[in-house]
Amino acid sequence: MKRTHPITAALAATCSILSIASAEPDNESGTTLIRRGIHSRITSNDDRRRSNPLTDSTPTRNLQTTTCTGNKMMCGCTSTRQSEYRGRFSVTQSGFKCKSWSHVSSSYPDQGLDDGAYCRNPNSVGERAWCFVEDGYGVMWDYCNVAECTVEQEYVDAGTTTTDGCFTTSRYYEIYNDIETIKNSIGNDVDRSHFLGGIVRMVAHDFMDYDMAESNTMGADGCLLFDSPKNAGLTSIWCDSCPLKQLYDSKYSDLSRADFWVASANAVIYLTSVNNALDLRNAFLWGRETTDSCFGSDDRLPTSAGCQEVEGVFLQRMGLTWKDAVALLGAHTLGRAGFSSHHGTWAANDVEAQIFDKSYFDELFGRAWTPRGLGTDQQDWTWISGNPNNSSPKLMLNTDMCLVYDIDSSKQCCSNTRVFKPNGQSRCDNYSNRQCRMYSRSNSRIEATAAAATYLGGTSANSNQTPFYRAFTLAWYKATTNGQYNLKPLSDTCQ
Ligand code: HEM
Repeated sequence: MKRTHPITAALAATCSILSIASAEPDNESGTTLIRRGIHSRITSNDDRRRSNPLTDSTPTRNLQTTTCTGNKMMCGCTSTRQSEYRGRFSVTQSGFKCKSWSHVSSSYPDQGLDDGAYCRNPNSVGERAWCFVEDGYGVMWDYCNVAECTVEQEYVDAGTTTTDGCFTTSRYYEIYNDIETIKNSIGNDVDRSHFLGGIVRMVAHDFMDYDMAESNTMGADGCLLFDSPKNAGLTSIWCDSCPLKQLYDSKYSDLSRADFWVASANAVIYLTSVNNALDLRNAFLWGRETTDSCFGSDDRLPTSAGCQEVEGVFLQRMGLTWKDAVALLGAHTLGRAGFSSHHGTWAANDVEAQIFDKSYFDELFGRAWTPRGLGTDQQDWTWISGNPNNSSPKLMLNTDMCLVYDIDSSKQCCSNTRVFKPNGQSRCDNYSNRQCRMYSRSNSRIEATAAAATYLGGTSANSNQTPFYRAFTLAWYKATTNGQYNLKPLSDTCQ
């Protein structure tokens, strides 16, 4: 028998991590696996043994498969012990990364486990979703804290699939008022900017999974895989205790979730635009159908690696132009990063991160951006001097920088060598004043640079928001209506 490492033993005792040692049998069903008595390191604790998926004697038959409605693939249905769960949760309750099922077990054939190293409950052998993990001393298994869909929650979540009856202009503006009330109730700038930015980001993540080449095009259908790492942070915008969802549940659940999300983002953009000049009301159409299943949608969402991601999502899959793509990315003026591996604001501070204006472009051209975390997966750009991890870092992603600078050729550079610190020292000193290259005329990405320059509103400092607002309106309209053929304008009255 393997020796138990003290740290592992302590973890096992507190977190129900159980060893399967080397006893994982081949060609056995999950039930046989249970009977074969996989060794547990906490065998002295009867209660814990009962919660062990592999020794659990609770019958796996007689499950009430009809109790859960809604999307069982996105959250775990309790009555079926999360056995239908097909989301992207891949970390266990003790913080271990799941191992790929094919590498550690051949016990569950035909259970659809070959889609990755995710939490699952094949054959309902466990009480809930779990997976195999490895701590350096052996293969063990551990439960995952996949969000559970209670029956009640699922009914609430579902809302209506399509907006019934009609959607009047006054109702649409009521959403503006309600979002403003929530916004005003948030007491600090950081939380407020995340609330505002988070709503806009949620809609962007909804529409960025559109792929015109696929039969299941997806797009703005009110469906996100909330447990995917790419959507990290969005559960603080859409959850049972989140003000936005509570607003929907209490007042707007007759609208489809997909329509409500877009109308809410429009409200944020209106409320935060300069002099409320950006009212997307005329670019709003309703009638989107909410989908409860969008498996694989996160695979279509871009990473922040660089412009190949921007081209993939906006130009190739969504069929937009560079002008559209650059205008949409201007929304990064709102909110902040913190839930992903990036942190900071695109805007100069947390107050400006609550204003929807062209400052993203002013920042992009004006600051001395230098790479942060070069050579790591978290690599991005910052301009703040001193410690880049200070409490208020500034941020651009590769996908932002690449709109203007040819960072594919080299990231060992600084974006603006003409910016100086108060003491006269160049802000680009760390990079030997090496100016980042811009695209040549023959490079198609020069279109992105030209668009970004247009959205500056003029060649010198100015507050002309018009070019950006116009371009954003068109791009937002395309993005939120992509692939939707039966949408209708708001009406003044309901017949
Ligand atoms: C290539 C495409 C994109 C990439 C790679 C990207 C990446 C990111 C990342 C990494 C974050 C930080 C998340 C966090 O750490 O909390 C973020 C935040 C944000 N994104 Fe994007 N994004 C893209 C497109 C868009 C689009 C099209 C919009 C809207 C039109 C948008 C709006 C936002 C907003 C408003 C935030 C701030 C969210 C908050 O305050 O919680 N993004 N984005």
